[in-house]
Amino acid sequence: MCGIVGYIGTQQAAPLLLEGLARLEHRGYDSAGVAVLGSGGLKVAKRAGRVRDLADGLPKRFGGKIGIGHTRWATHGPANDANAHPHTDEAARVAVVHNGIIDNAAALRAELADDGIVLASDTDTEVLAHLIARSGAATLEQRIAEALGRVEGTYGIAVAHADFPDRLVVARNGSPLIIGVGDREMHVASDLAALVRYTTTVAHLDDGEMATITAGGFTTYSLGRLEATGRTELMATDRRAKEVDIDPAAYDAGDHDSFMHKELLEQPARAEAVLRGRLDDRFGTGHLGGLNLDARELRGIRRVKILGCGSAYYVGQMGASLLEELARIPADAEPASEFRYRNPIVEHDTLYVAVSQSGETIDTLLAVQEVQRKGGRVIGLVNVVGSAIARQVDGGIYLHAGPEVAVASTKALTNMFLAFAMLAVQLGRVRDLSIADGRRLIAGLTRIPEQVDQVLATEAELAVVAKRLAEAENLFFVGRVRGFPVAREGAQKFKEISYRHAEAYQTSELKHGPLALISPEVPTVAIVPDDELVERNVAALHEIAARGGPLVVVTHAGVDLGDLERPGGGVVGRIDVPRNERELDPILLTIPLQVLAYHAALELGHDIDKPRNLAKSVTVE
Ligand code: F6R
Repeated sequence: MCGIVGYIGTQQAAPLLLEGLARLEHRGYDSAGVAVLGSGGLKVAKRAGRVRDLADGLPKRFGGKIGIGHTRWATHGPANDANAHPHTDEAARVAVVHNGIIDNAAALRAELADDGIVLASDTDTEVLAHLIARSGAATLEQRIAEALGRVEGTYGIAVAHADFPDRLVVARNGSPLIIGVGDREMHVASDLAALVRYTTTVAHLDDGEMATITAGGFTTYSLGRLEATGRTELMATDRRAKEVDIDPAAYDAGDHDSFMHKELLEQPARAEAVLRGRLDDRFGTGHLGGLNLDARELRGIRRVKILGCGSAYYVGQMGASLLEELARIPADAEPASEFRYRNPIVEHDTLYVAVSQSGETIDTLLAVQEVQRKGGRVIGLVNVVGSAIARQVDGGIYLHAGPEVAVASTKALTNMFLAFAMLAVQLGRVRDLSIADGRRLIAGLTRIPEQVDQVLATEAELAVVAKRLAEAENLFFVGRVRGFPVAREGAQKFKEISYRHAEAYQTSELKHGPLALISPEVPTVAIVPDDELVERNVAALHEIAARGGPLVVVTHAGVDLGDLERPGGGVVGRIDVPRNERELDPILLTIPLQVLAYHAALELGHDIDKPRNLAKSVTVE
């Protein structure tokens, strides 16, 4: 959430900063700004709107070879020009961009105002600019350390100062900051996406770390607090830049109209990537080396608690079903955002699983820390290598989905499911799951990439159904047991990018209330796999059709919908997904729902990759 860039080197900074911001825009897109340091001192341009609006309005004379930039997702104060970053002190000698939240901003703002400082924005970030400007310390680093010593909360910051025109200073506590090393130039970004065009030699700062960056290199320090004096001290650390193995093309949408479309179609290849080397057909088990749990520890697990937010929570529910069915371990998923506020009981024989594409979601990270504080063991299902959650957990499974840029998660979610399936098989095989069943599931998993491809090949037909659904203001998504989290995820994806009201329900619960809302204007997308519940599900479809509710049924070939499919019978769309093992149905049932959401949003003319009010990576509580 929010994107930060910085540059120092031999080229004009502004065009590079704008290019970097455009690549980070998925992290926040309500306002943007840049500051450059040139012969005329510090210049700032910022405004509400997109990065392209900022670029269009940039003054002609905006020269300088040092600069910082920001693209914002509003927390403190509305998205207007004044609240856009960078923020400066009154004399405009120091400029700050910030990602994160300063929890004690109100108290600090009041203190500054009492001292006669006129605050120019409603933001928490602005206090940092004033605190740095007011510090009397000799070095910029010490001034920033002093200011950060006053601040409670999370931050990734980049600072430029007119009195120190040879450097940028950056610091991190909870929000990512990466330094990219170029040839006589250095880049800064909160996400690799903004760097990879320029360099793949990068250093990730740790929490509590600060760096001084000049055109020729960088030095790092840890921000320690001296107990005796309460002062913040800087102690040199030995952070080195490393090569990252990333194809810059992974951050381009290529010929696709959106990243979401590109990412949808990447799913077969990415699904293969997450399964590769992790399926053991001989013993019918998963081979997940990163768990850091031996067979005895795996056998000792009595319960599994899955923590994630949004779609990661819904796939966590699918994962809980897999674990209960295959490993017969009681398992449930809970929104990570709620977990730590109910003083959870953490048990030593429970395995906690944190699920996150970005590895940055602050609610999930804080839930992990809550478990660990109480002595629990957490593994992570994380996509972004080296992210905060990946570093915090005690072991885990990387998702290998590649960079996911679209706000609506697709390929990462698919790989989360597959990672859960492998985990469930592996846990099952040290318990009651037979080798035959293990092999059956391994074979099923091997077929998934090809079957995902088969679903995606029906995109044109799915687009027709999506067009029909896009006409409705309100929709239901319904499913039962394995199909219920599928319905929840389908509704989530649909509402997120089409802005239609899509509500998920257990099919069995409709008659206990929501059936009152069924009418010819309210279509229902029903998840009806060919499983032990198929007859009951079809009966519920009749109840919907009898009230005039149009039906889109996501099912398997051969499922007999009888009269419902006759003209006027209720079914306005039928989507058959390939058959696999029943336990693995949820992911194949989910793929068409992603495509429906994408085509509905396209039909409605929405910005698919940047849905209103949202941002990728939710790094604020
Ligand atoms: C839905 C979506 C969000 C995320 C959620 C968690 O398409 O993208 O609901 O799933 O914000 O994000 P991660 O997985 O990065 O922790």
